[in-house]
Amino acid sequence: MRVGTTTLEVAPDQTILDAALRANAWIPHSCTQGTCGSCKLSVVCGRVDHRDSPEYTLTAEERERGMALACMATPCGEVTVEPIGAIDESIPRQPLRDHCGTVAEITEIADHTRRLVVDLDDDMAFNAGQYCELVVPSTGTTPGTVVTRQYSMANPPSETRRLEFHIKLTPGGVATERWIFSTLAVGDRLRLRGPLGQFHLVAEQTGPGILIGGGTGLAPLCSIASHALEHNLIPEIHLYHGGRRRADLYDVERFTVLAATDSRFHYHPVLSEQEWDGATGLVTDAVLADFSSCKGMSGFLCGPPPMVQAGVKALKRRRMAPRMIFREEFPAIPATTPQE
Ligand SMILES: Cc1cc2nc3c(=O)[nH]c(=O)nc-3n(C[C@H](O)[C@H](O)[C@H](O)COP(=O)(O)OP(=O)(O)OC[C@H]3O[C@@H](n4cnc5c(N)ncnc54)[C@H](O)[C@@H]3O)c2cc1C
Ligand code: FES
Repeated sequence: MRVGTTTLEVAPDQTILDAALRANAWIPHSCTQGTCGSCKLSVVCGRVDHRDSPEYTLTAEERERGMALACMATPCGEVTVEPIGAIDESIPRQPLRDHCGTVAEITEIADHTRRLVVDLDDDMAFNAGQYCELVVPSTGTTPGTVVTRQYSMANPPSETRRLEFHIKLTPGGVATERWIFSTLAVGDRLRLRGPLGQFHLVAEQTGPGILIGGGTGLAPLCSIASHALEHNLIPEIHLYHGGRRRADLYDVERFTVLAATDSRFHYHPVLSEQEWDGATGLVTDAVLADFSSCKGMSGFLCGPPPMVQAGVKALKRRRMAPRMIFREEFPAIPATTPQE
């Protein structure tokens, strides 16, 4: 297979995206599960099998025009593909790799939310904001099928051997209810692959940064905030964490202490369904109330799609430049229906 100027081997059943990222040939992507459409590319030469590419992400007309989803499609023989859109060559990319690790910690940190800490057998280099796919142990229902789920690193990239994840329980979920919230225990071995995703902070920002997270959408923002503070990449950080009730918030004490000791860091927890001695309402409304202008600032948003979309709207309303807004969405259901 040829991706841009790189020629690489693809194993049977390996997706175009997986093969390319392992060879360090960058293809823009976000969800790796066929739902976001950000990995769409042109098949310039040859044929691909679209496999389970959903119709709402890749229409029949787009297939006719020779487009494919890199995270779903596999090549049928020799193919040449071209990513769509410009690729920023200044961003450091680390090749996708398989890793093994041992569970070092698994603790309840908020309502139906766990912190999972994994000691890797070898180092993983990644950009602050990226994620991994955890391999869910086989349930024995469909032999040969590998089930993976995406979880963002909450630790900074300076910690390459010990990864931290914040995981919310999904009722009925294969990875969460049936594994991470039931059988997974300290000392267990697990498999994962990473790094993945294009939500990141790598370059120095001249203006303040507004970080808005809903629920476990806080995870990649923790990585971004720690990395930015370690390397002085953002002069002033405002971290907003939205939850419904007090029990949904976590690491409150840690951030309160950090805000009291580091003048560059400001912490804004916001509750939408419970009165308390802090801010109340929608987290995005709190941002609108706190800033009359966001000109010259950067925004990093992560969490459920409606929160992220409302956050982008709020930041644009306050005149933040669209190119300075970075986002990651955690879809609630892995895609049997289109996202709005
Ligand atoms: C880039 C990215 C990063 C992410 N990072 C994080 C993170 O840091 N922390 C975090 O908590 N989450 C994160 N997520 C979400 C996470 O990957 C999982 O989607 C989530 O944990 C649910 O997985 P599960 O296997 O438990 O649930 P699933 O088994 O996938 O089920 C999800 C829900 O959908 C329902 N469902 C499943 N199949 C169907 C179907 N065919 N029809 C109708 N309903 C169905 C289930 O009953 C359940 O309610 C991220 C997602 C993405 C895309
Ligand atoms: S990365 Fe392929 S559709 Fe989202």
